[in-house]
Amino acid sequence: MARFLAMTSRGLIDVLDEELRELGLQKVLKHPSGVYFEGSWADCYRANLRSRIATRIILPVLDFPAYKPEELYANVLKHDFTKYIPATGKISVDAHVRDSGAFRDQRFVAMKVKDAVVDQFREKFDVRPDVDTEKPDLKIVVRAVKNQFSIAIDTSGDSLFKRGYRVAMTDAHLKEHVAAGILRMAGYKGDRPVVDPMCGSGTILIEAALIALNIAPGLLRKSFGFQRLNGFKRDEWEKVVSEAVAEEKSELPFKLYGFDVDKQSLKVAQQNARAADVEEFVEFERRPMETLTAPVESGLLVVDPPYGERLGEKDLLLDAYRDLAHTFKTSFKGWDCYVLSGAPELSAAMKLKAERKFPVYNGPIECRLLRYKMF
Ligand SMILES: C[S@@+](CC[C@H](N)C(=O)[O-])C[C@H]1O[C@@H](n2cnc3c(N)ncnc32)[C@H](O)[C@@H]1O
Repeated sequence: MARFLAMTSRGLIDVLDEELRELGLQKVLKHPSGVYFEGSWADCYRANLRSRIATRIILPVLDFPAYKPEELYANVLKHDFTKYIPATGKISVDAHVRDSGAFRDQRFVAMKVKDAVVDQFREKFDVRPDVDTEKPDLKIVVRAVKNQFSIAIDTSGDSLFKRGYRVAMTDAHLKEHVAAGILRMAGYKGDRPVVDPMCGSGTILIEAALIALNIAPGLLRKSFGFQRLNGFKRDEWEKVVSEAVAEEKSELPFKLYGFDVDKQSLKVAQQNARAADVEEFVEFERRPMETLTAPVESGLLVVDPPYGERLGEKDLLLDAYRDLAHTFKTSFKGWDCYVLSGAPELSAAMKLKAERKFPVYNGPIECRLLRYKMF
């Protein structure tokens, strides 16, 4: 048994906690930096494969205060890092430091930790592992806040929001785990149609389709960090994968609907849905939201409208938000409507009273997920 930490973006900790409990993980505990759980390596494989909201699962190994570089170095030596990879393997250190006096330069912190780890290998095997930031076998995650260091072993590799279906890009797409997180906040259980009237690259709908079909989000990924660590149990991993595949659905009694005015975005959405193998469940159509009518009687509407980040853009968007509210009132009566708002002055222009507001971060942008019940 080990204690793992699932990390995610700010605002998504509550829904991540709920998700990990539903996955049957044990001793699930919320913390400002993520959600802890206890379990075997097979549980860690399962969390990596199945969590839609975590961005990374790490195995914390050291926690200590350090005020001088020598203290940092000496503390890192207290854990045996040589057990994770062969001496011929490659390592990388990812350091983030906040309010840590003597350690203002995170590159210096990363270097000091790397030196200690490399020296352990040299001491034991007379060989030093190379550094490779692109494809390391062992990735060490260092976080320091006010001189309190925590050091962990990454088990995910690439961030878990990189599902493997984003084969084409648009400018302002939502990250996959944020889309999955807001769908959970909206109470989506994969049991009803979803409409996204400004769908861009289709992230919300593709994530909704994966939820509805009970497809594990990590199935399309080519690799995970834990597969490169010593002791990786291939048979247990294969069991975790086949259990997930056995629980998939192959049919849905409803569809998911994406609309947008931009032809190119719709093309990208279609390509991504095909790559995610959910193309037959999602219909994309070029329609302006101003004149959109509901494609079915009732369901869930989730939209991530433009926020207008550049100067002057916000004024131009005021009308769009008013039109969105008009479409909700006239065409989506009886629907649950959710707007991811990155600009309060724009959502205020909708002149609708939000029933609930959930704080969420879309990258660095502080947003609110606003719930409107349309009667
Ligand atoms: C912030 S992006 C949505 C990104 C999307 N959530 C994703 O993950 O890719 C906003 C989208 O609204 C679309 N849009 C702007 N005005 C529109 C309108 N009047 N009707 C429908 N779509 C519109 C844009 O083309 C853009 O794709």
